[in-house]
Amino acid sequence: MSDRTIPEHIAIIMDGNGRWAKEKGLPRNEGHRRGTKALEKIISHADKIGVKHLTVYAFSTENWRRPQDEVDGLMKLFGQYIDKELKKVDKDSHRFHIIGDLESDVIPEELKAKIYLLQEKTKDKPGMCFHMAFNYGGRDEILRGCKKLIQDVQNGIVVLDEIDETLFSGYLDTKNIPDPDLMIRTSGEERTSNFLPWQLTYSEFYFTPCMWPDFTTKEFDKAIDAYNHRQRRFGKSE
Ligand code: IPE
Ligand code: IPE
Ligand code: MG
Repeated sequence: MSDRTIPEHIAIIMDGNGRWAKEKGLPRNEGHRRGTKALEKIISHADKIGVKHLTVYAFSTENWRRPQDEVDGLMKLFGQYIDKELKKVDKDSHRFHIIGDLESDVIPEELKAKIYLLQEKTKDKPGMCFHMAFNYGGRDEILRGCKKLIQDVQNGIVVLDEIDETLFSGYLDTKNIPDPDLMIRTSGEERTSNFLPWQLTYSEFYFTPCMWPDFTTKEFDKAIDAYNHRQRRFGKSE
């Protein structure tokens, strides 16, 4: 499709790494490693075709409930990913940004420092904004936003009557980011698992049985084609 509309913001729930590995008799962490490879290809492809914002769900506030060795493996992978990005930061054109509770004590300090460094080094990049949802939970984000807003009301910075959807959006981690146009979830699961509950209210959903490590740029383009056949109404009658 040559005259297709490229969604400005695409959000992805990268699911199925564990099942992909299990099917092949490999450890779950090998599935996560292969998932990172798939992600790297999707990031450069999305940037190339003109996606302005790409948000991926990498680790949820609920994922800490997984076995310690899996959590440790995932933290190690994130660290390696950031190291790799820091090494090629001059060549890359995309911005790196985390959504989620980055201040939390549960995140290893060394990893936090690397994340802040990569965010700082890429903040003026001209290409796509790549947002990684890490230690992210939608309910947690809304609660953190509410607490900040209440503080501002108590300190007289915000007046109660001024609070509307636009103002509240500015208290979320996705401040200044347009809502996703398209949300993709791989692995056949059809739920949002606490991903962007405020922001996805009018997004188009695309579910595919493809496991995340098998998700190629071709699969990504298929989702964009499906999006091009949707009619978005936003509550209106046509
Ligand atoms: C997604 O794959 C990656 C993370 C949640 C970190 P899963 O690990 O959830 O894979 P499945 O769903 O068990 O197959
Ligand atoms: C959602 O996947 C979180 C990420 C992809 C990072 P999960 O695999 O954790 O979701 P559930 O538990 O199947 O709902
Ligand atoms: Mg899963």
